[in-house]
Amino acid sequence: MFTPEMLESVKKVEATRAERMGVEPRRMTADEKDVLLKQYHPDYRENEFVQLQMGPNKGGKVPTELGALLQAHSRIKDASLDLSNPDYDVDVLVIGAGGAGSSAAIEANEGGANVMMVTKLRIGDANTMMAEGGIQAADKENDSPATHYLDALGGGHFANKPELLSKLVSEAPSAIKWLNELGVMFDKDKDGTMITTHGGGTSRKRMHACADYSGAEIMRVLRDEVINRQIPVVDFTSAIEIIKDSEGKAAGAVLMNMETKELLIAKAKTVIIATGGAGRLHYQGFPTSNHYGATADGLVLAYRAGAELLYQDTLQYHPTGVAFPEQIFGALVTEKVRSMGAMLVNEAGEAVMHPLETRDVSAASIIRECANEKGVTTPLGKGIWLDTPMIDAIHGEGTLEKRLPGMLRMYLKYDIDMREVPILIYPTLHYQNGGIQIGADCQTSVENLFVAGEAVGGIHGRNRLMGNSLLDIIVFGRDAGKEVAKKFKDVQVKDLTLDHVNKFEKELEDTGIKTDLVSPKLLPDYRRKANYLNQAVL
Ligand code: FUM
Repeated sequence: MFTPEMLESVKKVEATRAERMGVEPRRMTADEKDVLLKQYHPDYRENEFVQLQMGPNKGGKVPTELGALLQAHSRIKDASLDLSNPDYDVDVLVIGAGGAGSSAAIEANEGGANVMMVTKLRIGDANTMMAEGGIQAADKENDSPATHYLDALGGGHFANKPELLSKLVSEAPSAIKWLNELGVMFDKDKDGTMITTHGGGTSRKRMHACADYSGAEIMRVLRDEVINRQIPVVDFTSAIEIIKDSEGKAAGAVLMNMETKELLIAKAKTVIIATGGAGRLHYQGFPTSNHYGATADGLVLAYRAGAELLYQDTLQYHPTGVAFPEQIFGALVTEKVRSMGAMLVNEAGEAVMHPLETRDVSAASIIRECANEKGVTTPLGKGIWLDTPMIDAIHGEGTLEKRLPGMLRMYLKYDIDMREVPILIYPTLHYQNGGIQIGADCQTSVENLFVAGEAVGGIHGRNRLMGNSLLDIIVFGRDAGKEVAKKFKDVQVKDLTLDHVNKFEKELEDTGIKTDLVSPKLLPDYRRKANYLNQAVL
């Protein structure tokens, strides 16, 4: 339970609650946000980034940890690996089996392709499963895809790729319809109308949810659909290099059995990378809300195959990660908590900001409070309060239990009843805003190599809004699946080769980079002593 210092601070939060509930904190101006972000957002800590010395983004800025993996050795030690007798030969190889990979596989299968999915863990072991708050779509009368576009563009600091953002918002209503018809149990009113709420930076209530386990519910249905369609899923097997053909087009992948380390060759007419995010690289020492397998593997595979990355220097720190208790340090406290009215409050009981500023601004505000002695000390660092008892106070008793049952249960395990007391939070590494560059057809600069989901860069600009990630895995997953289903029929795969990997190794040597690292990383290594928050707090 709480320490005496925390309990003292809780009294201050309780003392100011009634007054705070009567006054909505003002929104920050654009100039105030700029100053705040530059001073406190982790993306602006120049010494945490490196410049790439080789590869398609030579000269570009990336987080130090990612730079090391992008400029590391291949896991294939024997460059003369025999590719002439593949273990698998398919039309479409989907690497990754979360929401994007599953959606892609379903649509490619629907389009008549012979599809195979490969995953280093199991189908559904992915960030999709961990997503809580919801999925955006402008499908109500007072809303439109154009309004959704403007919200996401502003939130993304006007850096979103227009052709990708336009797809995201215009295909959102049909994505919800597709999921609903597949069997996703969205929250609905008694008359069947979808219940929608606000997220940070949204000007309309367009967040559709399944209580606070939206991703798990969506993944449940997608997994069932993959199984019903009898799409083969090769599990506990990772992709460790993209294979090309003699014309330089993507033509499969070298796979590695995670247990036996046996290498297998998968030949494919088209390849879709849907490997998700990078939270388990713990950039800047931050804890993460991400799934165990989120180690940026797809970025490494694509980069070594010659595809460009975009905005890889911008990460999303979810403002409300658990700061206390230690057992669930860094776990996600959904933004839906704030969208239902809970305020961010500092040690002294003062509201820190409007609860629904965008995520980068919210995270920077919390870091600022903690850096300026306005945070509460926890065993692992600092945090501020999320005043959760406000939810029932605003919406009526029983609301928190009904709308946020997962959150409630998570905290009750540690004897913290968030209906009665506020909870302590601090930003946690949540999402990579950047990723692999694609065109509107989901294809990279390497022909026949496609990408969907969190591994894509450019949809969300330099800061994603809540609920646009569950949306992008469906929209871009489905579209990538449809694109390869159109394309595979015309593809003639020539001789398979790993020459690009050999060239990459040569470039590594010529550049003078000395490293023992091999990549992709595949799984995090927690054998070292970790002390994330000490490094993460300014
Ligand atoms: O806060 C959340 O529930 C997270 C949502 C998201 O990242 O889209």
